[in-house]
Amino acid sequence: MNKTINGFSKLSKQGKIEWLSSNFLQRKGENEQNTEGGTFDIFSNFQSTDAEFQRVFDGFSENTVANFPIPYGIAPNFLINDKTYAVPMVIEESSVVAAAASAAKFWSERGGFKAEVLGTTKVGQVHFTWSGNGEILRGSLFDQLKAVLIEKAKPITANMERRGGGIRAIDLIDFTNEEPDYYQLRVQFETCDSMGANFINSVLESFGEDLTYFLAEKTDIAPVVIMCILSNYTPQCIVRASVECAIAEFHHEEAAFYAEKFRKAIRIAQLDPYRAVTHNKGIMNGIDSVVLATANDFRAIEACAHAFAARDGQYRSLSACSIENGRFKFWLDMPLAVGTVGGLTSLHPLAKLSMQILGNPSAAELMQIIAVVGLAQNFGAVRSLVTTGIQRGHMKMHLTNILNHLQATPEEATAAVAFFDHKMVSFTAVRTFLDNFRSK
Ligand code: MEV
Repeated sequence: MNKTINGFSKLSKQGKIEWLSSNFLQRKGENEQNTEGGTFDIFSNFQSTDAEFQRVFDGFSENTVANFPIPYGIAPNFLINDKTYAVPMVIEESSVVAAAASAAKFWSERGGFKAEVLGTTKVGQVHFTWSGNGEILRGSLFDQLKAVLIEKAKPITANMERRGGGIRAIDLIDFTNEEPDYYQLRVQFETCDSMGANFINSVLESFGEDLTYFLAEKTDIAPVVIMCILSNYTPQCIVRASVECAIAEFHHEEAAFYAEKFRKAIRIAQLDPYRAVTHNKGIMNGIDSVVLATANDFRAIEACAHAFAARDGQYRSLSACSIENGRFKFWLDMPLAVGTVGGLTSLHPLAKLSMQILGNPSAAELMQIIAVVGLAQNFGAVRSLVTTGIQRGHMKMHLTNILNHLQATPEEATAAVAFFDHKMVSFTAVRTFLDNFRSK
C-alpha cells in the first residue's frame, strides 16, 4: 500500500488524524485503543479545551495533531548569589527534580551557590569562496569591507545597539590551505537579553549580500557566498557556577573519605570519555529541564555543551572539583546562549510563568540559574553514586509509580515502601505484594 501523500499540510487537523489512523495505526478491532473513536480520543485528550490556546500551540510548529505533555516540576530552595529561587524544571525522568531539590537544600545550608557570567559574546559566520589575491583581501581592503558591512547593516542593528548590543568584531579567517578559495567572516555579537538567532542571521545575510557587491566592484572577482548562519558554538558566552565549604561542614563522620571519593569521581570524568558522557548527561538533566521550562533552544545548548566538553581534543567532564586545606570546591563552566525576550519565551504560557517564578531574570541571570541547576544535578548524582548508588533512589520512585498505577491505598503504600526497602522493585513483585497484602 502506498503510504505517501501530497498535501498533508493542507488537511485539517481532523483530516490529518484520519489519514494517520487509516495508514499508520492499526485498523478497527485490531487494537482496543483504536476502535471507533479510540485513536481520536487519544489525540483529543492531548488538545487544549481552550481553542485560542490550542491555536497558539499549533502555530509553534507544523502538521500538529496533538500536544505532547512532559511533567513540569519545581525544585525549591536554590540559594544563588544570596537570592532564593524556586526553579521550574520540565523533565520526564524520575529522580531528577528530587535530586536537584535535595542538592539545593544541602547547599542552601552551606552558603548557597555562587554564579558569575564570564562572557556573553555570540558568533556568526559568512562562509564564502573568492578566487582573488588573498593578500589584498587580508590587507587594507578588509578594513574598507568591514566599514561597509557595518554601515549597510545599520537598519538591522540600530535597535539592538540602542539596547546596548550589536556587532562587536568582524574577523576574516583564511581557510584556503584546507579548501581552495574558502574564507570565512567570523562575526562577534552581543545580543543582550535575546538569544539572538534571528538578529544574528539577519545581519549575516545582509553581510553576505554586501560582501558580494563590494568584492565584485573593487576587484572584479565576485565571491560565492556559501552560507550565512550563526554558530551554536558559544565558548565566549559562558557562565561559572560553584559551591564550596569546609569538609567539616558535611557533618558526617566519614566526610573526608566521601569528599575525596567525590573528587576522584569528577577526576575520572575528566580522564575518561566513557564516564564523561554519562557524567555530563547528568549535568544536562538539570540544564535541559530549565532550558525547556523557559522555552529556550535545548538542541543548541546540547550541541554546544558537548563541543565545549571536547574543546581540548578529548571529551571531558564539564565540572571540576578540588580539595585543598580541608576545603571542598566544586564548579562548572558552561556555555549557555539563552534568551529571556523574544522567541517562544514570551509566547508559551508555561514558559512565561517560569519566567515569573524566576523573577523575570535577565538572560545573564537565567544563565546563572541554569548553570547552578546543572551543578546541583551533578552534585546529587555523583553524591549518590559514591555513597548509596543511584538505584536506591530510582527504585523508590519506581515503586511510587507502580503503586500509583495499581491504585494502592496510603496504608498499602506505606507497607510496600517498608517491604521493598532493601529488595528489588519490579512490577510483578509489587503486584504480588499487594495481592498478598489485600488478601490478608
Ligand atoms: C542519569 O540520568 C544520570 C546519571 O547517570 C548521571 C551520572 O552518572 O553522573 C546518574
